Amino acid sequence: MSEFLPSQFLSHCSTDALSKAAQLLKEGGLVAFPTETVYGLGADAANLEAVQRIYAVKARPSDHPLIVHIASLDGLGVWARDIPDYAIVLARNFWPGPMTLVLLRSAIAEDYITGDQDTVGLRVPAHVIALGLLNEFAKLGGFGIAAPSANRFGQISPTTAEAVREEIGEYLSSQDLILDGGSSLIGVESTIIDCTGANPRILRPGAITEEMILESTGVALSSSGNEIRVSGALESHYSPRARVVLNAIPQSGEGYIAHVNFVTPTGVIRLASPSSIEEFARDLYSAMRFGDALGLTTIVIVAPEGEGLAIAIRDRISRSAKNIS
Ligand code: TXA
Ligand code: MG
Repeated sequence: MSEFLPSQFLSHCSTDALSKAAQLLKEGGLVAFPTETVYGLGADAANLEAVQRIYAVKARPSDHPLIVHIASLDGLGVWARDIPDYAIVLARNFWPGPMTLVLLRSAIAEDYITGDQDTVGLRVPAHVIALGLLNEFAKLGGFGIAAPSANRFGQISPTTAEAVREEIGEYLSSQDLILDGGSSLIGVESTIIDCTGANPRILRPGAITEEMILESTGVALSSSGNEIRVSGALESHYSPRARVVLNAIPQSGEGYIAHVNFVTPTGVIRLASPSSIEEFARDLYSAMRFGDALGLTTIVIVAPEGEGLAIAIRDRISRSAKNIS
């Protein structure tokens, strides 16, 4: 699925393409790339101008911190300091993977990455293209790639390269790249864990669940702490253009996302029929995008029950239901 566009291109990701993309990052360009959660919009995390372009392309307020993506656990000590033991355990167990650790920052993590906070968010993504890019970037002397989800601020995260192009293609320059790695396997953003206290605290639920954290660290989770800004925790976020309504009976002409066991009423447009929680997470954002592409005004979603990843899905859909537009 490679396509040449007038402004930038989607690429098959040979080693050649990845080293070219890494070179572009080093020169201050932007590279959107696939991860197992959602697609990210990457820039050299040590380059102020490049990072400023991320904010411009996303139309994101500049005081929101960015996650720094690193090639391996070794990057922890470069970007963070005073790392608690339980955070090392988490990194060893779940990296590469859908988990972001928030730690006290080192001097290399500038205010333009951390949103003036004394902490930095770090993640090693589990995707062959993302890791390939990070490794090529490291070979060129790069320390990390700052990458928020590759959507306009407040919108749905993209889970395909095509969705990235639709979201931000028009704001990228002719030099910037979008790497195509197919559909993201997990489909919702990483679990963010605040590791600045004596106990870990979940700031954003994701595929690494509370049970997994507790089981691997043996340290109880904390539910309170200092106020930390997480833009993904704003009330209204992850919003399609359509109005999202939760747990209602859809009317004719409305879109519908629900477990396969729910039948589609006459005249209702079925956007997704997941048969598992994993499938629900994977298909959720693309189904909402599909609803927007069809020009639907309302999408009804039946929230999945249960623990684990279902918590992350309920978190995202309840925020998307708060859109005011
Ligand atoms: O799965 C993901 O995490 C994706 C992929 C691309 O890695 N990235 C992603 O980035 O979702 P973004 O920027 O869309 O969401 C990251 C969230 C933001 O809400 C940001 O506020 C929070 O992480 N964050 C980043 N650094 C932080 C820090 N030092 N303290 C607290 N929150 C932080
Ligand atoms: Mg985001």
